[in-house]
Amino acid sequence: MKPKILVTRQVFPEIVEALRGRFDVEHNDDDRPWAPDELARRLADKQGVLATVMDRIDEAVLAAAPALKVVSNIAVGTNNVDIPACTKRGIRVTNTPGVLDDTTADLTFALLMAAARRIAEGDAQVRRGDWKLAFAMQSPLGTDVHHATLGIIGMGRIGQAIAKRATGFDMRVLYNNRGRIPEADERRLNATWVERDRLLAESDFVVVMVPYSPAVHHLIGAAEIAKMKPTAILVNTARGGVVDDAALVEALQARRIAGAGLDVFEGEPKLHAGYLALPNAVLTPHIGSATRATRMRMCETAVANLTAALEGRAPPHLVNRELA
Ligand code: GLV
Repeated sequence: MKPKILVTRQVFPEIVEALRGRFDVEHNDDDRPWAPDELARRLADKQGVLATVMDRIDEAVLAAAPALKVVSNIAVGTNNVDIPACTKRGIRVTNTPGVLDDTTADLTFALLMAAARRIAEGDAQVRRGDWKLAFAMQSPLGTDVHHATLGIIGMGRIGQAIAKRATGFDMRVLYNNRGRIPEADERRLNATWVERDRLLAESDFVVVMVPYSPAVHHLIGAAEIAKMKPTAILVNTARGGVVDDAALVEALQARRIAGAGLDVFEGEPKLHAGYLALPNAVLTPHIGSATRATRMRMCETAVANLTAALEGRAPPHLVNRELA
């Protein structure tokens, strides 16, 4: 008998086909998001699950899934999964690091530039037939990206990919990270480690790129925003909750900073209602890794993790390493 697995979102047909060769697959054909109780019900007889960041795999879900052996997240982040609860039950949790770094760095730059050059506002103006601002000499004008100072909080693989892009714009790059990256990488990226307060005070663009954990909850809140330049732009393509949305909405309303580019939100898919009326916030629906090629690589990596775990081999990307 083949092991039973659940795929919580619609994935590429070739991925489903490959899975069906080895497993008894229940696949979310219509791509309708499942509420937690439906997810729990569908997991009742499953040994593996291919999940996304929108699926909360918590105590209640795990309690309803006694046969579960592996949660293979199609994502690098795993804050949707209660990892200690999985570890306690001997359930392996895996992720897809590496394959999405450049794609996420691209989106980070897209949001940074969109906020700097007011792309969304301009798009709306053209659609309204409003050209009076086309050659305006005063406000509302944009902000230069080239030769500006970029501050990156979190200098892992994606942070470094963002810094690499900044070199092409002749930007000065400051970064803050728990540890310094190797000197050769600092030189290659023309990046200087500084204390977080200095980064906030000197940067024209502040990008957060840290994995979510309770330790970084509201890493950027009212106090941190108050340290930023009034002309600065904040970009969050990491995780909702790293930025305090209520504090950011208030700061954008009061123009304490100039703008924001946001791909992630606290409690998404819910959104702080204050963002909707803010012309100086560019918003995207958590699409950091959303290109066909990258999503395909993520699915392939997730399948390799799941297959290894269910066939008794070491998954290539195990998160709860205690279970190695
Ligand atoms: C997306 O947010 C991911 O963690 O891969």
